[in-house]
Amino acid sequence: MTDVEPDFYSDAAIIDDPHGYFDRMRSKGAVTREDYHGSLMVTGYDAVMDVLNRRDDSFSSAPSVIGPLPPLPFQPEGDDIRAQLDAHRADLPWAAHLVCFDGRKHAEHRALLTSLLTYKRLKQNETYLYGLADRMIDRFIDKGRCNVVSDYAHATTTYAISDLMGIPEGDRADLLDLIGAPPSQLDGDAVHKVGPDPLIFLKDRFDGYLRDRLANPGTDLLSELAHSKFRDGSTPDFDALSLLARFLFGAGQDTTSRLIAMAIRILGDRPELQARLRREPERIPDFLEEVLRHDGPVKLSYRLAQRSTTVAGVPAPAGTIVALSLTGASNDPAHFAAPEAFDIDRPHLRDHMAFGKGAHGCLGAPLARLESRIAIERLLSRTTAIRIDESRHGRPGSRHYRYEPTYTFRSLAELHIDFTAR
Ligand code: HEM
Repeated sequence: MTDVEPDFYSDAAIIDDPHGYFDRMRSKGAVTREDYHGSLMVTGYDAVMDVLNRRDDSFSSAPSVIGPLPPLPFQPEGDDIRAQLDAHRADLPWAAHLVCFDGRKHAEHRALLTSLLTYKRLKQNETYLYGLADRMIDRFIDKGRCNVVSDYAHATTTYAISDLMGIPEGDRADLLDLIGAPPSQLDGDAVHKVGPDPLIFLKDRFDGYLRDRLANPGTDLLSELAHSKFRDGSTPDFDALSLLARFLFGAGQDTTSRLIAMAIRILGDRPELQARLRREPERIPDFLEEVLRHDGPVKLSYRLAQRSTTVAGVPAPAGTIVALSLTGASNDPAHFAAPEAFDIDRPHLRDHMAFGKGAHGCLGAPLARLESRIAIERLLSRTTAIRIDESRHGRPGSRHYRYEPTYTFRSLAELHIDFTAR
């Protein structure tokens, strides 16, 4: 093993196996500087938790989705760059979306969504989700095989969030086509350039839904969003609502799809676990928590030190991008015994970081848990054995899978299985 690590942000081998990289970085320290873009790579559980829970505005979420690429559009000066950041914020990738907001603006906009994602709405969604999973399975069950990503996971989660939001049924298939695969994030790929509103391609549609609900209010989530007010009673402007609607749709779709695909990949290699979960379906939620811990859909989330600070004793001068490895933290042996073992019986299963923590912690976790549970429950119950397709992915011990070229997300590009239908 050499001491020189490859560039995390462009190395294709790390896309295939991020665990080795995070483990090696953690073995050098909970917080280490990577040599290519100067970001601090945080792989220790306590250190990630510390940054996500800071309340003293030492960190900004401005680079939350894509980290140090492209670099900041200004040269940080001094120990407090808040004014510089504010002057350039609108130009940063994803800047228009909630996940990159800070402070009061973030809290106000987040509160608009929090009040919409209620337990009651999720319960109403549940019946639809059971029917949906079965309709999806009906399409491929007789073939005895499928590509989980395109035939099952992607469609299930797109239809699920569409239903939750109240998007007309007739539009859902179109939206599924539109949303497609995530753009490449790899440095040098032409498509890796991302603007402040990467979901702009959904704007006309979501503007249309919101206008329609303003004129004809119903009881669906989009109607409530269209008529929502900030806590002080003021009305958000229309663009803010459209951005929230699009972000909710985007966030609610592809992450959960990745979780379902990874869960089925893991099951495909573990017939004994499949058998157990068929016998004990009430353990499916624990199984999914372990998938989230072991290999969750969001590998990292990023913060910017906007004031000079330290993380686990390591200096983070203002202007430093801090790469919080949620996967690294969730596999930290200081927090999880034998983290490499996939064990649905381990204690404190929900301690993982897959949904983030703190002010930006995932608002959709209850929905993600619900829809992935139902997707796995129905697939297990409609089959007696699920196998990884060896003609596509190789034999056990030498499996190969293709992942989307993104350093932020853990995203199987395809997953071919065959199965015995019940
Ligand atoms: C397994 C599926 C999912 C995973 C692993 C996941 C992961 C995450 C993570 C790590 C964050 C925090 C980002 C940060 O701190 O920078 C986040 C935020 C968020 N997620 Fe999820 N998510 C999932 C599903 C969903 C779903 C289904 C929805 C919508 C219904 C959703 C809506 C959101 C929203 C709105 C935020 C932004 C919260 C904020 O910035 O205040 N997510 N998610």
